[in-house]
Parts: sequence; structure tokens; C-alpha cells
Amino acid sequence: MSIPIHKYDVVIVGAGLAGCAAAREAAAAGLSVCVLTKLHPLRSHSGAAQGGINAAFSDEDSTELHEFDTVKGSDYLCDQDAVRLMCEGAPETIRWAEKMGAVFSRSEDGKIAQRPFGGQSSPRACYAKDRTGLTLLHTIFEQAHRDGVEFKDEYYVADIIYKDGKVNGVFAYNLVDNEPMIFNAKAVMFATGGYGRAFRINSNAHANTGDALSIVARHGLPLEDMEFVQFHPTGIAGSGVLISEAARGEGGKLFNSLGERFMEKYAPNKLELASRDVVSRAITQEILEGRGCGEDKDHVHIDLTHLGADLINSKLPELRDLAITFLGQDMIEEPISIAATAHYSMGGIPCDMAGHVRLDTKNFVDGFYAAGECACVSVHGANRLGANSVLEALFFGRHVGQSIVTDLKANKIAFKEASASDVEAVMQRLETIKTGNGEERVPTLRDELQDSMTKNAGVFRTEKSLLVQKEKLKELKERFKNVRIDDKSKIYNTDLQEAVELSHMIDFSAFIVEGAILRKESRGAHYREEFQTRDDENFLKHTMTYMDKNGELSTEYMDVVLGNHELAERTY
Ligand code: FUM
Repeated sequence: MSIPIHKYDVVIVGAGLAGCAAAREAAAAGLSVCVLTKLHPLRSHSGAAQGGINAAFSDEDSTELHEFDTVKGSDYLCDQDAVRLMCEGAPETIRWAEKMGAVFSRSEDGKIAQRPFGGQSSPRACYAKDRTGLTLLHTIFEQAHRDGVEFKDEYYVADIIYKDGKVNGVFAYNLVDNEPMIFNAKAVMFATGGYGRAFRINSNAHANTGDALSIVARHGLPLEDMEFVQFHPTGIAGSGVLISEAARGEGGKLFNSLGERFMEKYAPNKLELASRDVVSRAITQEILEGRGCGEDKDHVHIDLTHLGADLINSKLPELRDLAITFLGQDMIEEPISIAATAHYSMGGIPCDMAGHVRLDTKNFVDGFYAAGECACVSVHGANRLGANSVLEALFFGRHVGQSIVTDLKANKIAFKEASASDVEAVMQRLETIKTGNGEERVPTLRDELQDSMTKNAGVFRTEKSLLVQKEKLKELKERFKNVRIDDKSKIYNTDLQEAVELSHMIDFSAFIVEGAILRKESRGAHYREEFQTRDDENFLKHTMTYMDKNGELSTEYMDVVLGNHELAERTY
């Protein structure tokens, strides 16, 4: 079969903030750049980031404090050189975004307004009301467009073209008509976002199915620190839709069914503004111990009524709308119902600070880059601070875009022709799904995956629950071989897309569970009931897990880059 082959200097997969920022930098430097995305760029999940983007601007703040808060928030598992690079670059990143046209909210004196967020020593989150990500995404997308980036939306990237330690492009098909094609490039960058959809209650877009992670892992490349999944404290009860940390930053208080402000017990100094892992566990604990609210006692309340209508309407309008739409509760009049929701993936595709993807703990893949939530640099370690993800996406997106330019201009990466024979395996995989005639259905398997991951690998984990989940994932992988989809057509075949996405979710979930089984300690977002404290002696290290051709996983560990901030007990 002949397959069209398109050629570019750079192909970027994903059009959120990291993808758009990298694409803009590469195009502005004169490279031909194509961005492939399974959505329209402005529907990328970066647009859902509500509360802010961190930068130390004020007189009371400093980049050292930002660094310290990030390292402490990470429970010391981040790489401190990467954290320093990001925190030092944060103020300039905000100014760059502003010059590009992003409109931030202002304080009375005309400066960019900043609000407090959890785990931070100073109000540091710059914001555009509660639509920060959307504002930035519109701006950077427009500028990338203006600089000549070619956006191809509704293209599904199903594989990388990977040979002899080099990535030469990607295999994609057009969602409109299923036509396969090859995008052949000197440099390929993944910026595909996170993997929260593996859990039942989550704040993620439907698109956040972690495709890139499984694509990478199926080539025997490692994934890093996958066990660290962040649960955001305030998801709308029942649906998990995000109620931004801005709600607590502006003064929201958490109450259980007894009317107790329970954070006094868990984080006496920082209360609701302790770091996310601490607050999420506290909420879940209150619910598990029977102090949840409502008939099913399955949520707690966040009270914002004391803030008044003016503040809520001017600073949190989106949140108010969401609570009215999903709960029928108006936060101006009454407390609203929330519970923890799977929100962010600290782990991902391992890479260095320039975005080069790792082949193993020491070597790198040629021509392959990653940035944003799908990557693990690692600036968040075991737990990310709120408003550091938009920063990471924008800062590292731009930085990796620049590093691609540097590498290409120095002729460090040769162009290698790709051909139809490079994509036979993935074409065969898709054909098997399309023609499958078994008993299993995608929605059933996906429900079972999400429910079991939430139950067995969620906020609280035990050896027993994780081993049960490991077996469950093996079972789901086996059953997936008998999957049947109804739509056999070529036009907008969402049945096919959802089946492929599910197969990705099953594969990367095994990495989450494996890392969690092996990590016999509690650190950041990873909480093991049998090992309730951090164990620096044995586990101050990054998990690097590999999958072989038979789907078996093996793990080795990589050193954490330490720095000025010495290990200490983490209290809030
Ligand atoms: O709560 C929020 O607004 C989310 C921000 C973040 O995840 O950084």
C-alpha cells in the first residue's frame, strides 16, 4: 500500500501550551514545523487550567523561595537543577506571554495580580480571572499560527517511526477519513498531556488518554515515576470537574458533615493551603471515616459564601458557573460539594532539561523530544504544586523548542527517510482492532479499568490492592484481544479511536501499578498504608520502568539530582 509521506524539519504532537510554545519557537527560527493534534488546538487540556501560573515577582518573593517551595512540595524527588532552571525562567516567561498578547488580571496598582496557592510561601500565581490556561492557549496558538506553524487538527498519531536509536517521524491517520500517512522529520516532539483518564473520577479532558506514553513504552523505551498521580482536592462531587485551587487561594474553607474545619487537624499552619497531596488525603480520610456530607457521605463542602458576590463574580466566575451547572449549587449562596479528583501526572516520558528523551538511565534517543505533562523532567517529583504545571508547559515548551533549533542548526540530527515498511506493525494492529469479531466491548473494559484503578491504585494504596490491580490489568489486556467495534467505516470512526485509546490506557496503567508496588514508602502523592513515611535511604530515586515485547515490565532506578535544598521532613 502506498502511504503519503510528508516531510518537515520538526513534527510536534499535541497543541496545548507546551506544543504551541515549542512550535512557535522553532517556526520563528525558520524551521518548517507541523503540529499534529487529535483535537482542535484550542480544545487542548491546557485550556482547562484555571487558577494561575507561578512566577516570583513581588518584593516579598524570590526565585529561591519558589525553588524551595517546589522542592519541598515534590517531597524532595524533583531534580533540583531542572527546578532552578524553571523557577529562574518564570518571570521572563510571564513577560514573554504578555508581550505575545496574553491579558493577565491586574491589581489596583496596575501590576500583574498574584494569588496564593497551596504549599507556597508567597502569593505567586499570576492569573487571568479563573481562565488562565485558556487565555494563554489562545495567545500562543495565535502567535504560532502567525509565525507559520502548520497545524493539522483531528489527526491521530498512532506510532513513532523508531529505528536504531533514532526517531524519524510519526505514523498518523486523519480522523475525518481514516487515511494513514507518515510525517517524516528530523526532530519529533511529544507534548500530548497527561493520563488522568485512567481513573473514574478525574478532572481531565476526554482526550487525556496517555497515548504518547504507551506508544513510547511499546518500543521498549522507559517511563519515569509513573506511580505519582496527583489527586486535586477539589473536584466537583460525582463528576470530578475541577474547582480551581484559586477557590482556596481566595479564602475558601473546607468543612465535613459535623461542621468541622477539618484541615486544622491535618495541616495546622497552612490549613486549606497545604500542598495538594496533603489536602486530598485529608478529604478522602474524612469521607472514609464517615464524616462525608450528603446522603451517601461521599463528599465534603467548600464554603466561599464569606467572600461575597463581588469577589466571586470578578475573580471566580467560571467556577461559579461550573458549580451551578454540575451541582445546581450557587457558591455565592451556599457551600458547594467537592471531593478529590485525579488531576495530574507527575510521571511520564523521561527527558533531560533540553527535552531529549532518554533511552535508558544514561543514553538518549536521537531526534526525539518531550515537554509538558507527558514528559518527566522532573520538576514536580512526587507531588506538583498548583500553578507550576502551566509554568512547566510554557517554560519547557519554549525551552525545548529552542533546544530543537540549536540541535538542528548545529546539524546534530540527520534526516532519515521513512517508508511504508516502517509502519507495517502499527497498520496491522489497527486492522486487527477494526476487523475483530470478539465479545468484548470498549466501554465495558474502560469502565472496569477506571473503577479498578480508582479503587486499587488511588489516593490510598496497599500491597494487596496493588497486586489485585496488577492482575486486573493483565486480565483487561487479555480481554482486549477479543474486542469488537461496531463502526467499520472510515468516516469519523470514533469507535476505532476509543479502542486504540483504551489499549493505551491499559498499557500505561500497568506502569503506574508496578511503580507503586515496588515503592515501599509514602512520598508526595504516593501513599502506601503499610509504609506511611518517606524512606530516603531506599527510595530517594526515580523509577524507570520498561516493557518488553511480551508486555512484561522491568524496573531500574535513576539518581535524583540534589541541590541547595537539603532533605527535611515535610510539614505544613
Ligand atoms: O487548581 C487549579 O487551578 C489548577 C491548577 C494547576 O493544576 O496547576
